[in-house]
Amino acid sequence: MYLGIDLGTSAVKTVLVDDVQRVIASESRLLATVSPQSGYYEQDPAQWIDTTFATLDALKASHADALAAVRGIGLSGQMHGATLLDVSGKPLRPCILWNDGRSAAECRILEQRWPALRAVTGNKAMAGFTAPKLLWIATHEPEIFAATKLVLLPKAYLRLVLSGEAIEDVSDASGSLWLDAARRDWSDAALAATGLSRDHMPRLVEGCAPATTLRSELARRWGMTRQPVIAGGAGDNPAGAVGIGAIEPGTAFVSLGTSGALLAPTNRIAANPDRVVHTFCHAIPGMWIQAGAILSAASCLAWTARLFGVTEAELLAPLRSRPQAPSPVSFLPYLAGERTPHDDPAVRGMLDGLSHGTDRGTIVQAVLEGVAFALADCRDALADAGIAIAEADVIGGGSRSAFWLSVLANVLNVPIHRFAGGETGAAFGAARLGRLAVTGEAIAAVCTRPQRVETFEPDAGLVDAYAERLPAWRELYRPRH
Ligand code: XUL
Repeated sequence: MYLGIDLGTSAVKTVLVDDVQRVIASESRLLATVSPQSGYYEQDPAQWIDTTFATLDALKASHADALAAVRGIGLSGQMHGATLLDVSGKPLRPCILWNDGRSAAECRILEQRWPALRAVTGNKAMAGFTAPKLLWIATHEPEIFAATKLVLLPKAYLRLVLSGEAIEDVSDASGSLWLDAARRDWSDAALAATGLSRDHMPRLVEGCAPATTLRSELARRWGMTRQPVIAGGAGDNPAGAVGIGAIEPGTAFVSLGTSGALLAPTNRIAANPDRVVHTFCHAIPGMWIQAGAILSAASCLAWTARLFGVTEAELLAPLRSRPQAPSPVSFLPYLAGERTPHDDPAVRGMLDGLSHGTDRGTIVQAVLEGVAFALADCRDALADAGIAIAEADVIGGGSRSAFWLSVLANVLNVPIHRFAGGETGAAFGAARLGRLAVTGEAIAAVCTRPQRVETFEPDAGLVDAYAERLPAWRELYRPRH
C-alpha cells in the first residue's frame, strides 16, 4: 500500500493506492490563500501541516487497515514557494507562493548579477520563482533574511515535519532558480547571487529515490505497522507527469489546475528562456520537462463562479458538449499576471467585446477560450524550442469539462485525451514515486499510462475560426512592466 500526498494551492489531496495501482481511498481538504495586496499571495505553512494531518486522520477513520499497510509515501507540491525557517526550523513568515508577483525588480537584479543564470538554470528569472523572492526579503524584510537558516519549497517543509529531515527532490528544486539543471545539483553561483549558500538548502535526491522515513510517532498516530519510506517526490507538474506515465519524449500533456501548463518530457534540455519556456528536471532520472506555464487556469473559472454567485458546476452545466463558434467576447486570463509567454507579473485580466446582449454563458465560454488561447501561446513558445506537440493528454480539475476540452482541441488543433477519474493527477503520481522508492522496480513498469476514456478531436471549421481569432486575442495584451 502506498500514499500520495499532493500539497496543492487550493487543497491538500491524499490518496491511498494499493499494490495493483488502484486508488482505494482519497481525502482532500481545502487550503486558504491570503492576498495582502494585489499580486501578493501567501499561505501559512502551519495550515499545510494541519490540513495534511486532517486528510491522514480521515483515512485512518475510514481505511485503518489499508493505512496500516503503507510502505511508501510520495509527496507532490505546489512549486516555487519560499518557506523561510529559523535556526530551530520554525517558519519566519508566511510562505510567498508561486503566483506572487512582488519580486519583478529583483529578477532584473539577479540576471545582472549572474549573467549565466539562464544558461545554467534553463529558466528566465521570473517573479514566481524562489530566488528573487529571497532578494525581495533581503531588501524589504532584512531582519527575516538575516534570521533565515533554511529555505524550503512547500512540500520539503511538509517532509521536514513528517520526517525531521530537510530534503528536496530535483524536479521541485529546479523551480527555485538555484539549481544547475543539467547537473541536477545546487549551483553555488546561483546561491551566491542571492546572498545564500548550500548551508541554506536541503539535501537533494531524485524524485523516485528513497529520501527518509516517516517519524515513528506519526507512523503510530496513523496506525502504520512500520515506518514508511518517504520518496523524493516531485513538483506538482512532474508528479502529474508520473501519474499519467508521461516519462518519455513525445508524451505532451496539459494541466488544467489552479494554474495551467503545457508540458513536454524530454531526454535533453531544450531550454527557451527568452520565450519564457520553463525548464524542470523530471522526477525520473535523466529526464527533463519543458513547459509553458500560465498562472491562472481553473482559477479563472472559480473567479467567474464567484462573480455570478454560483458553483463552477452550475456555470458549466448549460454549456453544450462543444462550442458552435468562438464567443463574441474575449478574455485575458491574466488575473495574477502571466508567465509564458509574457513574464509580466503586473498585467491583469480583461473582458473585451461586452454588449447588452452578453449573457453569462457567453462570458463563461470566453473565459474557457481565453485560457485555451494562453495555452496556444505556450504551444508556440515550446515550438520555438523545437518541441512540436502532435497530441496531448489532459489532467487537473478543468479536465472534467468536455466543453473546455473541445475548445482546447480546436484552439491547439491537436487531439486531446482524457482519463477516467481519480487515477491521474499529482497525488497519484506521488504515490507511484513512493512505491518506486520502496521497491526499486523498473520505472516504466510502474509508470504506465492509464486508460484514455475520451478523445476530443479538432473540427476543421472550428480550428479555422479559432485560428482567425487568436491574433486579435493576442492584440489585447498591453505590457504593464
Ligand atoms: C509551475 C507553477 C504552478 C505551481 C502550482 O511553474 O508555478 O504549476 O506548481 O501548481
